Amino acid sequence: MAIERTFSMIKPDATKRNLTGAITKVFEDNGLRVVASKRVWMSKREAEGFYAVHKDRPFFGELVEGMTSGPTVVQVLEGENAILKNRELMGATNPAQAAEGTIRKQFALSIGENSVHGSDAPETAAEEIAYWFSSTEIVG
Ligand code: CMP
Repeated sequence: MAIERTFSMIKPDATKRNLTGAITKVFEDNGLRVVASKRVWMSKREAEGFYAVHKDRPFFGELVEGMTSGPTVVQVLEGENAILKNRELMGATNPAQAAEGTIRKQFALSIGENSVHGSDAPETAAEEIAYWFSSTEIVG
């Protein structure tokens, strides 16, 4: 299996509850390396741009409001099969449907405050990494 990179966010609902370390530990304990990381407070423009694919969805306003309500930790994770592995570690988008032991089952509050985001495919991983990081900020 190839070594991949994926994009991850620890969202404001989680950073506000001081869960950055606990969530990062799940990644590291499961073979993912944090090869880039920074804490940002997203502007409305940044949040709208990042989630532009959802702009016509009824929850878009709530999503942007949540993502601009506090700090987010944006990260690049590297490891074998990193994109799928991270999605398995996160669990289902809606924590009510997330499997036992997943990050969202353990930490998420609701579908809107679901603690983490992770890329769903190689193309989106590349786009999302480039949205937040320059190549010199990623150190493997
Ligand atoms: P994420 O993986 O970051 O991708 C888009 C986000 O939109 C998703 O996680 C949820 O936080 C949010 N989202 C998706 N569906 C809903 C919904 N029905 N109501 C509120 N927020 C949602």
